Amino acid sequence: MTAAVVPPTVEVHLGPGDLRRALEDDVRVGLSAPDKWLAPVWFYDDRGSRLFDDITRLPEYYPTRAERLLLQTQAAAVAERSGADTLVELGAGTCDKTRVLLDALRRRNSLHRYVPLDVSRTTLADAADGLAHDYPGLHVHAVVGDFHRHLDRLPSGGRRLVAFLGGTIGNLTPDQRRRFLSDLDGVMGPDDRLLLGTDLVKDRRRLLAAYDDTAGVTAEFNRNVLHVLNRELGASFDPQRFDHVAWWDEQASWIEMRLRSTTRQTVKILDLDLEVTFDAGEDLRTEISAKFTHQRVHDELQQAGFVVEEMWDQPGGDFLLTLARPGC
Ligand code: AVJ
Repeated sequence: MTAAVVPPTVEVHLGPGDLRRALEDDVRVGLSAPDKWLAPVWFYDDRGSRLFDDITRLPEYYPTRAERLLLQTQAAAVAERSGADTLVELGAGTCDKTRVLLDALRRRNSLHRYVPLDVSRTTLADAADGLAHDYPGLHVHAVVGDFHRHLDRLPSGGRRLVAFLGGTIGNLTPDQRRRFLSDLDGVMGPDDRLLLGTDLVKDRRRLLAAYDDTAGVTAEFNRNVLHVLNRELGASFDPQRFDHVAWWDEQASWIEMRLRSTTRQTVKILDLDLEVTFDAGEDLRTEISAKFTHQRVHDELQQAGFVVEEMWDQPGGDFLLTLARPGC
């Protein structure tokens, strides 16, 4: 007997109004600060998501390939060690890498449920339909939410494997990471496991090239946030008057992406009733992407209450997968 397709459920904790308010608050705070900044989450409208997808195929952008390879070689071990019946994926996006984990869990015959969490309802709904169709019997329970605020809304029960992949945790500041990891530790039960993907510190030329590709895709991705502000908030940015800058901060151990104003210019943000002036050469920070050592991942997890069970990397050590259990 073959299992039937289970229609996916989509639970919404973050409506269009909430997202809109969060964008308004972020932009008001970030663009009024002495060192201007924007949160990376706003890159990802439809065009931004497509551009990021293009980035993952660039010769210079190694993290996606490195992580996929690791997942392919270690998914069986992850499935074995976790014994999970539920895969939770934070910041799931298009659920691309999910299939490798789902396949491995299914081979153990333990898989019941897939719970992707993402801020984008449309992206999630599409991915949920595709997965429910391709994995008969799997209950896809999608949660539209923000991993900073809605961890406690994740459906409980069973043995959950909570995957936070892609190196997305690197977009968080050290403070945000501390809070996020200890919140996560707080909502996980003794049988749950965390699978964390982190990019590793490496030669700075390779790091910089990954964020400043010769085809200029990352530059377009970076400038896309200005298109988003123009459309969503009635802003008057001319994206061509901002240069893409990638910068390696050795001390902080992170890549920063910035948009550098080519001239002195004033930008109006109609919906916020705000005018923002940029000096010539002034930077707007749009992203940090932290790079880790094994030790740092271990320490941060431990400080948040987790116990590291296993770390996987490959020779050359481009990327790291870590399996951890909550300390409770
Ligand atoms: C999706 C956050 C992991 O930081 O490498 C890619 C986003 N930014 N190129 C990263 C990104 C510029 C990416 N993450």
